[in-house]
Amino acid sequence: MSGINPYFFIKEVPNEEIVRLLAQKIKELKSEKDTTAALNLQLINTVNELKNTHAELLRNREVLEEQVKQKTEELLNLERVSMLGNFTARAAHDLKNPLSVIKNTSQILRITLDKYLDEKSNGQWSRLDRAVARMSHQIDDVLGFVKPPKLERKKHIVANILSDVLERMEIPNNINIHPPLVGSSIYCDAEKIEIVFVNLLTNAIQAIGENEGSIDISISENSDPKYLEIHVQDSGCGIPQNLSEKLFEPFFTTKQTGTGLGLVSCKSIVEEHGGHIGITSTFGKGTTIKLRLPKESEFATLQTDSQERALEHREFCRPLKPQL
Ligand SMILES: Nc1ncnc2c1ncn2[C@@H]1O[C@H](COP(=O)(O)OP(=O)(O)O)[C@@H](O)[C@H]1O
Ligand SMILES: [Mg+2]
Repeated sequence: MSGINPYFFIKEVPNEEIVRLLAQKIKELKSEKDTTAALNLQLINTVNELKNTHAELLRNREVLEEQVKQKTEELLNLERVSMLGNFTARAAHDLKNPLSVIKNTSQILRITLDKYLDEKSNGQWSRLDRAVARMSHQIDDVLGFVKPPKLERKKHIVANILSDVLERMEIPNNINIHPPLVGSSIYCDAEKIEIVFVNLLTNAIQAIGENEGSIDISISENSDPKYLEIHVQDSGCGIPQNLSEKLFEPFFTTKQTGTGLGLVSCKSIVEEHGGHIGITSTFGKGTTIKLRLPKESEFATLQTDSQERALEHREFCRPLKPQL
């Protein structure tokens, strides 16, 4: 063989050593290749994960944008409803004064002109009075609904509150009212509880209608000694089972001139007192409204109503004869 051997510098190294070195190098290269492949795979996975995260972020952003849009609309609606509520409360309040002028003037005029009125005119006048009373009740319903109850609570005797309410209400002759005979007291805002009783009694009177009927109001101890249970039971038309779910929904009414706000207002007043209102009814037989109201303040530092009047001086015990 002529010429220069290019591997002259390793000619001293034995062949076995060269083979061993080459095998080792090949092994190292293979291992590096595997590591690179693993790294590559990891990289691909990370890129995929990043892509997924990016897509999820985009989706979340869309959802969040939609939620922000929805919440903004809700807030705007609430703002509108609250403005409408304020406006309604003001309008209803402003209507109350002229309405009571109409009511009082009508009563005075009727007394003055009574001897000149024939049966037909008397009937027309009664229709006018009933319409005014209806308007007044509707205004009270609206006010009770739009004005959230702010309570000024004291210890009050339930029978006294009821007595005041019954004195003011017009109870038709066909209805006998039996108020409670016990002097139990509750820790309440008397004005607000009056609204509850007016609503419940009005509903009971309307449910009895033209028929002979009765309304029994009873007070009993609750299983929880902190509460008093008051039942207002009427012998009216009762409530069909399928309507029971809807009774406390705002604007639910079965009456032509109803507002559907009476029971909602009662519920919010009673719950604001930390109490509970429930209804049991048998269609065609009558309805019982059950109120549970606290007897004492949470701190038991009861301030007795300064105008608390001795029960024996009140006339509430008499079986109330309907007044017109
Ligand atoms: N004592 C009752 N007897 C029969 N139905 C009643 C009685 N109380 C309430 N209801 C029913 O519940 C409905 C809602 O009552 P309420 O919220 O006071 O509104 P409104 O009296 O203006 O209809 C009434 O329309 C009536 O159908
Ligand atoms: Mg009502």
